[in-house]
Amino acid sequence: MDAAEVDAYLESTLLAEDRALTDALRRAADAGLPPIQVSAMQGKFLHLLVQAIGATRVLEFGTLAGYSAIWIARGLAPGGRLTTLELDPRHAEVARQNLAAAGVDDRVDVVVGPAVDSLPALDGETFDFTFVDADKVSTSTYVDWAVGHTRPGGLVVVDNVVRNGAVADADSDDVNVRAVREFLARITADPRTDTTVIQTVGAKGYDGFALVAVR
Ligand code: SAH
Ligand code: DHB
Ligand code: MG
Repeated sequence: MDAAEVDAYLESTLLAEDRALTDALRRAADAGLPPIQVSAMQGKFLHLLVQAIGATRVLEFGTLAGYSAIWIARGLAPGGRLTTLELDPRHAEVARQNLAAAGVDDRVDVVVGPAVDSLPALDGETFDFTFVDADKVSTSTYVDWAVGHTRPGGLVVVDNVVRNGAVADADSDDVNVRAVREFLARITADPRTDTTVIQTVGAKGYDGFALVAVR
């Protein structure tokens, strides 16, 4: 059995049939969006983290079709809100459809444009939880902003930090690998935070999440 087969087994065992999520993936595929959303088990992991810390204010970098946003929105405490930032208006349009069909559009704002341009309007806010999953070269910029706008005890989770193991290659000339390495070096030196990385396998191959806790 390989990791994808185990993911299929875990999904069939741990998750009930979920029309909103399967419809969201179908709409994304029909619209020609790349199938790079988090896996179901990863989505549920984000959901459980949000729920565990009682998050009411959540930020996401990189909406795509709203798949991770649905998982996160379902974990919000009563009255909670998710703001999710997306560059591509076509992705945002599909995401809005998916969030409405999932019944969470009342608690999710999809903001279109380069994420850095959307941050000034959020400057007065404090977040409990942030999921960073947009363009990888900007990861450090996004995490730095998020950490500065997160309450003590809040979390910042970063996707795709292992990259099929390439993160450990100091000589890599891949811009995404170099960006992740720079992010990990910077965040470890940042006295505001404590960080770990959990390697993951599954339907999406070999990758990992960074978990940044704000002191
Ligand atoms: N979090 C999603 C997957 C996001 S894929 C999920 O798991 O369901 C990455 C997304 O980031 C893509 O939709 C891409 O268009 C978006 N993106 C890329 N560059 C961006 C930028 N500069 N600002 C905001 N979003 C960006
Ligand atoms: C890609 C981006 C992601 O966020 C991801 O989880 C997997 C792949 C990509 O750009 O290829
Ligand atoms: Mg990702």
